[in-house]
Amino acid sequence: MAVVRGEFTSRFGFLMAATGSAVGLGNIWGFPTNAASNGGGAFLFTYLILTFALAYPALMAELIIGRYARANAVTALKTISRGPKSRLLAIAVGFVGILTVSLILSFYAIVSGWMIAFFFDPLARFLGMDGVAQWLTEDAELRNSIFVTLFMILTVFIISAGVRDGIEKWASRMMPSLIIILILLILYVLTLPGAMDGLRVYLVPDFSRVANPQLLVDAMGQAFFSLSLGVGTMLVYGSYISKQENLPTLGGLVALLDVGIAVLAGMLILPAMYVALASGVEIFDESGGLIAGPGLIVSVLPALFNSMDSVGMFVAMAFFLLMTIAALTSSISMLEVPVAYAIENHGVERRNAAITIGSVITVISLILVFNFNPLFDLVVTYTTEYSQPLLGLFFCIFVAWIWRRDDILQEIKQGCPEAEAGFFWKIWPFYVKFICPLAILAVYFQS
Ligand code: PFF
Repeated sequence: MAVVRGEFTSRFGFLMAATGSAVGLGNIWGFPTNAASNGGGAFLFTYLILTFALAYPALMAELIIGRYARANAVTALKTISRGPKSRLLAIAVGFVGILTVSLILSFYAIVSGWMIAFFFDPLARFLGMDGVAQWLTEDAELRNSIFVTLFMILTVFIISAGVRDGIEKWASRMMPSLIIILILLILYVLTLPGAMDGLRVYLVPDFSRVANPQLLVDAMGQAFFSLSLGVGTMLVYGSYISKQENLPTLGGLVALLDVGIAVLAGMLILPAMYVALASGVEIFDESGGLIAGPGLIVSVLPALFNSMDSVGMFVAMAFFLLMTIAALTSSISMLEVPVAYAIENHGVERRNAAITIGSVITVISLILVFNFNPLFDLVVTYTTEYSQPLLGLFFCIFVAWIWRRDDILQEIKQGCPEAEAGFFWKIWPFYVKFICPLAILAVYFQS
């Protein structure tokens, strides 16, 4: 069925959309705490190497397949298949990707809903509505259901508007705001007592930890999750890039921006935790490590903001606005994966596809909310630790072992005519063929 496909109207638009997908709760919440509990600067160093040596090549695989096929993940993988067996594999990988990304969205939306609730908390306090403030910050099923639904409505609203008027427009507004808020918060927190201790814990490397296999596993998982790899998100965004764009450079910029914002987020979170410590808030768990799970965002930081008197309200609202923006630019990229499939392969109109699929995912989220303990961690582990790396592996297999090398080169040459003689083409095919699959397998079996 012929469908008019959307396209990003500018390089900036694509960069904001793809960086928006990459920069999410994983950067602002996951990265800093991972770094702090894994040797600070040593983790940062390992993460940078893994991002550029492994995650960037995998990102390029998705972008190139997407732009070549100009289609959703299932169709795109089928397009580059050769023969019935690889077509079958293409369908399987495409569908597992759609299922995985939908499940990721279902838990991501719950956490994102908490961010919205915490954004309103200081406002309620300011207005003297203490009961409301308490309700907003208490982990209860009703609150979680309301805010997860609200977050999904926002996501559906943006995706309904399409690639240019939805994804590109909103990402281009939200991402610059995110960077400004992040920098302002860092500048403020660094002036507070205790901040420098946090910065030291974050940046001074403990190189005795670099050889630790757990550090490698964590850094690799973080790099893949952070670049939204394996589930077809970057493939779909790649399918909306103009043929005039230089893909290796664009992909490199996305990886750089993603890492850059993660590093910046560390300069906010770790100093903020030590400022909290200086004002009497407990920041270590029973085992002596830094509190890293939900407790960090929903108890340590709010306790810090509360101890800041009048400024605290603005700092808290800015912080949770930052988290909500980061989450929303990621969630739209997740919803776009199944929506693009429904539009292109089943002729469903975009708005209907977004509303229907968004509703199904909201129902899954609600099931998780009401069965939080047995299900939430299970879904997080299954999707991010097992499914995502394994799918990433299959994407590498598709480009390096199944797709014709010459087609790949021709695709890269569009927008980068000198590609054949360049550094990228000398290194990348080898990487996606051998290094990426082996590294992903190694991590997969370790975790
Ligand atoms: N990259 C996002 C983050 O770091 O929070 C998470 C993510 C987005 C994962 C999109 C998967 C995805 F398809």
